[in-house]
Amino acid sequence: MGDVPTNAVLGDKPCIEPEVIKSLSYQFRVADLHDLVSVEQNRKNLLPVLDYFIRSQAALHHAEYIGTPDSLEDNILKKGNTFRGVVVYSQTSLPVAYAVYYPMVNDKGERGNYIEDAYVTESFRGHSVMPYVYHVLARRCSEEGAQFLQWSTDKRNFPFQGFSRKIGATRPATKTLIANDFLAEDYVPQQPSLRQAWDNTNFVTLPIEGKHVNMTKQFVTPDIIRRTGDLDFRGFITFRADDLRHPVALTPGWPHMSTFKLKHGLVLENPSFSEDSGLTDQDKVAIILSCAKAAKTYAAANEYSYLKWHVKDDGEAPSRVLQGEISLPIDTMVGTVESEMEIYNLRNGKLRELAKNKKNGVEIPVTTAIGARPPERRP
Ligand SMILES: CC(C)(COP(=O)(O)OP(=O)(O)OC[C@H]1O[C@@H](n2cnc3c(N)ncnc32)[C@H](O)[C@@H]1OP(=O)(O)O)[C@@H](O)C(=O)NCCC(=O)NCCS
Repeated sequence: MGDVPTNAVLGDKPCIEPEVIKSLSYQFRVADLHDLVSVEQNRKNLLPVLDYFIRSQAALHHAEYIGTPDSLEDNILKKGNTFRGVVVYSQTSLPVAYAVYYPMVNDKGERGNYIEDAYVTESFRGHSVMPYVYHVLARRCSEEGAQFLQWSTDKRNFPFQGFSRKIGATRPATKTLIANDFLAEDYVPQQPSLRQAWDNTNFVTLPIEGKHVNMTKQFVTPDIIRRTGDLDFRGFITFRADDLRHPVALTPGWPHMSTFKLKHGLVLENPSFSEDSGLTDQDKVAIILSCAKAAKTYAAANEYSYLKWHVKDDGEAPSRVLQGEISLPIDTMVGTVESEMEIYNLRNGKLRELAKNKKNGVEIPVTTAIGARPPERRP
C-alpha cells in the first residue's frame, strides 16, 4: 500500500477537517488622488471607483450627484492640483474607503487641509477604517505643511459626529453662510444704508498676491503667502481708496470644488480689520460689501460659480451684517432647516497623535462580514 494522500476521502468524509476561518483579513492599499490628476493612466483606473464612491456618499445623504467619470475628470483637471485625496483598496481590489480634500487657509492665515468627502463602504464599517483614513490624511498634513484638518458634517449625521468627537476634533464657533446672492448680476442690498455703502464704497478690495506679503503681517501669519503658492486664490486685501499702501482689512479665502455638484466655488474666511486705522463700524460694513463685490468680479473672471463665507458667530460686524442684516442662509446639505453643516477642526497634539503608526489593514470576523454595519449609536 502506497502513501495515503492528505486529502484522501474515506467514503464521503474527508480525512482532514477544513481549517475553520474565524476572520477575513484585508491589507490596505492606498491610491493617491493627486496621481489621478497628474498621470493619465491612473485616471482610467481610478475615475470609475471615485465616481462610484462619490455617488454612494451622495446617496447616503439623499443628495443629488450629477457626475459621470468623464465629467468628474473634466472638473478635476479644470482646477488642477487643489484636488487631493486617497482611495483605500483591499489587496484584492475591493473599494474600502475614500477621502477628498483641498488645501485651505483659515482666518488667521494658517494653512490647513479641508476634507470635502470621507466615506467607508458599508460592509467595512465598524472596523476602524475611517480612523485609518484620517491617519493617512494627518500624515499628509505634516508632509504638506498643513497645520490642521477641517471638515463639515450635517448636524443629523450622528455617526460622523461621534467619530469626529472620538478623534478629538473641536467645533469652532463659526458658521458657513451661502453667499451666492453676491455673485448674481443684479444683486444690490435691500436696506438703504447698506445700499449706499454698496454703491459708493470708499474702499478698494483686491485679490491677495505675492507682492502683498509684507502688508499681510499685521493681520495674519506670513504663512498665508509662503504656504499657498499652489492656490490660485488666497482671499482679498482691502485698502482705503486714497491709500493703496496701507491695507485696512484682510479676508483670507481658498478655492473649493463640490464633488456632488461638480462645480467650483470660493470660500471666504472671517475678515480681520486693522486696529490702528480708526475704522468705524460703518467702515467695516463697507469693507465687507467691498469684499463681496470683489468676490463677484473674481468669480466671474475665473469661472467660480458659488461663494461660501465662514463667519465667526460672535455678533461682530461680519456676522451682524452678513447673517443679521443681509440674512445670508446657513449652509445645508439638502436645503432644509433640519440640515445644517457643522464645522470640525483637528490640530496640534490630536493631529500628531492621529499621524502616528496605525495598522495597515483590518480583520473582520466572518460572523459580521456580510452586509454588516454597526448599530446606530446616538450621543
Ligand atoms: C461614521 C463612519 C465614518 C465611521 O467609520 P468606521 O470606519 O466605521 O469607524 P468605526 O466604526 O471604527 O468607529 C470609529 C469611531 O467613530 C464613532 N462612531 C462610529 N459609528 C458611530 C455611530 N453609529 N454613532 C456614533 N458614533 C459612531 C465611535 O466613536 C467609534 O469609536 P468606538 O467604536 O471606539 O466608540 C462611517 O460609518 C462612514 O463612513 N459613514 C458614512 C460617511 C459619512 O457620513 N461621511 C460624511 C462626511 S461629512
